[in-house]
Amino acid sequence: MAADNLEKIVSLCKRRGFIFPSSEIYGGLQGMFDYGPLGVELKNNLKRLWWKHNVYERDDMEGIETALLTNRHVLRYSGHEKGFADPLIDNRTTKKRYRFDHLLRDQTPEVRQELASAFAVAEGADDYEALALALLDEPVRAEVVLKAAKVIDPEDGKPGDWTEPRAFNLMFKTQVGPVADSESFAYLRPETAQGMFVNFKNVLTSTNRKLPFGIAQIGKSFRNEITPRNFLFRVREMEQMEIEYFVMPGDDEAAHEQWIQDHLNWWVEKVGLSRENLDLFEHTKLSHYSKRTVDILYKFPTLGFDELEGIANRTDWDLGSHSKEQDSLGLSANTAEKAMKNEHSTEKLTYFDQPNNRHVVPYVVEPAAGVDRGVLAALCEAYDEETLENGEVRVVLRLPPALAPIKVAVLPLAKNKPEIVAKSKEIKKMIQSQGDVRSVYDDTAGIGKLYRRQDEAGTPLCVTVDYDTLGQSRDGGTDLIDTVTVRHRDTMQQERVAVSDLLAYIQQHIR
Ligand code: GAP
Repeated sequence: MAADNLEKIVSLCKRRGFIFPSSEIYGGLQGMFDYGPLGVELKNNLKRLWWKHNVYERDDMEGIETALLTNRHVLRYSGHEKGFADPLIDNRTTKKRYRFDHLLRDQTPEVRQELASAFAVAEGADDYEALALALLDEPVRAEVVLKAAKVIDPEDGKPGDWTEPRAFNLMFKTQVGPVADSESFAYLRPETAQGMFVNFKNVLTSTNRKLPFGIAQIGKSFRNEITPRNFLFRVREMEQMEIEYFVMPGDDEAAHEQWIQDHLNWWVEKVGLSRENLDLFEHTKLSHYSKRTVDILYKFPTLGFDELEGIANRTDWDLGSHSKEQDSLGLSANTAEKAMKNEHSTEKLTYFDQPNNRHVVPYVVEPAAGVDRGVLAALCEAYDEETLENGEVRVVLRLPPALAPIKVAVLPLAKNKPEIVAKSKEIKKMIQSQGDVRSVYDDTAGIGKLYRRQDEAGTPLCVTVDYDTLGQSRDGGTDLIDTVTVRHRDTMQQERVAVSDLLAYIQQHIR
């Protein structure tokens, strides 16, 4: 059973040390979170699984890591400077700020209908994004009509004293170098994607790749979201796992379909999300660069189905937009018509198609997922409350072992028995000598409490050292000397395993 309520996940994350509000002792910073001891392990495991699947286990991928601070021309020619904006509106009375399309979504159909009629919105009153765009086109009149239609502020439930709606660019700017002038700024990248496009030629020539091939990147991105909310779901500083997969024009549609299926399966098979909690959403309104976009949605508790990953066919838009002498490149009609004329690039981002002796601008398919949303989905899916025979409820995170922050906890049955403690620590050392297995030693509570603690952390195996391990069984027998109890998180079943077999046993159960 997955979590039925996001609050339970927020509370578990704080309690157990997965995720904390950032800068908490100074009141926090909205839309920012810090990953705690368990969270950083979970997040790293998720990224490692993604990298393994998308880079190591394929023959056609290269990895890259590009800078977070980005030359403004990159984001000018990508279209972000002009178009990466959300509509925004303020209520002068409550001082609350809203994403305008979300505010319209939360109004009654009657209010929306009044606005749609006033602005002759062809798409109709239920298309709140189209409605927002229509009003943004005429902000002065919009201010008057919004008041007349008595658009409600969800904060106080009363009609608001609304400002004009306006577009708000989501990119963070920062100064580069000691002199602050209008030209010496850079952007914090809003997506990892652009770093891969502008390095296309570098990767191509340094690796001698042939099409099709892809570039993968995992890293931070920044968006000054108007209303960050729902815990990790919408944050201002996030991490993305993105691929730009370059193909010959004409091969793009089949490649797109393959990536959709491949990544849908990955979320199920490797991250453990159940298929019924995932869905595919086919965009009908496409971004200016997209030929087709399909989102993989996850059914987040409280929020319902929402985007986990977007997979877009971006055609030759990006490489075309970042190239010089665009007229000479034979770009697709859409890119040739809509891309900004590039006056700053020093490269033509083309590929030499040897068999046909011509240069082409490759098409690109882009699977783009959020790491933080992936962590949130994994936690929500794994969360379970199990009622035991004695009526007690145990909270257990049924994470796939490969994702679990701690693989093994070593627990002494009696912390006041020096030989048991020494043996436990010796076993813990033996496990950690394996290098890639995160193990912990804990003797800060009774064994029952220690098990519950590890259940909540998602630890698949607990190893308990007891009197039998020392050859001091109650019945006087010594048969169990140098064996330990291994307890399994999901079933709570216990097995006796020889210490000499323990490392192999662990390896077998945590992959
Ligand atoms: N390069 C394409 C791109 O960035 P996107 O749909 O804007 O596409 C990709 O972002 C993924 O990044 C989303 O599917 C989502 O998982 C994640 N993401 C985007 N904005 C986010 C935010 N404010 N907070 C958390 N994750 C976000």
